[in-house]
Amino acid sequence: MNTTITSIYFSPTENTKRSVESIAEVIEGNKEQIDITVDLEPKERLFSDKDLVIFGAPVYAGRIPSVSKERFMKFKGSKTPCLIVVTYGNRHYDDALLELSDLAEELGFVVKGAAALIGRHTYGEIQTNRPSEEDFLENHRFATRAIAELMNNKELKIPGNQPYKDGISGGRFHPLTSDSCIECGICVKECPVQAIDKDFRTINGNCISCFSCIRKCPKNAKNMDTEEYQSFAKEFSKELNKRRENEYFF
Ligand SMILES: Cc1cc2nc3c(=O)[nH]c(=O)nc-3n(C[C@H](O)[C@H](O)[C@H](O)COP(=O)(O)O)c2cc1C
Repeated sequence: MNTTITSIYFSPTENTKRSVESIAEVIEGNKEQIDITVDLEPKERLFSDKDLVIFGAPVYAGRIPSVSKERFMKFKGSKTPCLIVVTYGNRHYDDALLELSDLAEELGFVVKGAAALIGRHTYGEIQTNRPSEEDFLENHRFATRAIAELMNNKELKIPGNQPYKDGISGGRFHPLTSDSCIECGICVKECPVQAIDKDFRTINGNCISCFSCIRKCPKNAKNMDTEEYQSFAKEFSKELNKRRENEYFF
């Protein structure tokens, strides 16, 4: 198949990026990645019906993050087949997969396969080793089967409700900065919403609590060492300790 497979994802802590890439890697064709995580204004693109696109986003409060939605809207299809992927932290994906599916269809894509996959939760210590090698193998099997079914006109039944759950633009935890900060600027560069001011420390109201800065800080200077967060994280981790499995639709 001489197709171009374009992965388009929003992924502050890289669960979605890694999951989407594991799907793309077993599909034959030229590969291209469009990472919209820190791209405030992605370049508009129109795909043809010969292309294949894989869209990926995390689940925030049962929806896809509103900033990702605005950025996905720069991409248009002309009956372009696509696969859609959401990753979530072992609670639930609620209406997020349906929302991404509806969005893709609105933009001119035809959803040929969908996956709701587990990734380490942003908060607490929940499924910290996921996505795992085992998850990637499941993703490979999904990709192979979805591609084999590409020409079939099967109606997909994607779980979720309309109207969707009320969305949130992000969480309520805004990272702190310790004295270990060496002002390398990685956090500023990697922040998806320009929430970290030029002093590398002040977090402004744009913060969506994605914890990209915490995960990527080479000195562990960005942190959430408050009593309120620590006690929430402890309880939350206990509550969500039962492993959930990936779900695939094709
Ligand atoms: C603000 C916020 C809200 C979240 N809401 C949910 C949720 O509703 N259900 C869930 O299971 N995980 C939730 N998560 C966890 C993320 O969906 C999960 O860690 C995801 O894999 C992160 O994707 P990324 O690594 O690509 O950024 C939330 C995370 C954040 C930051």
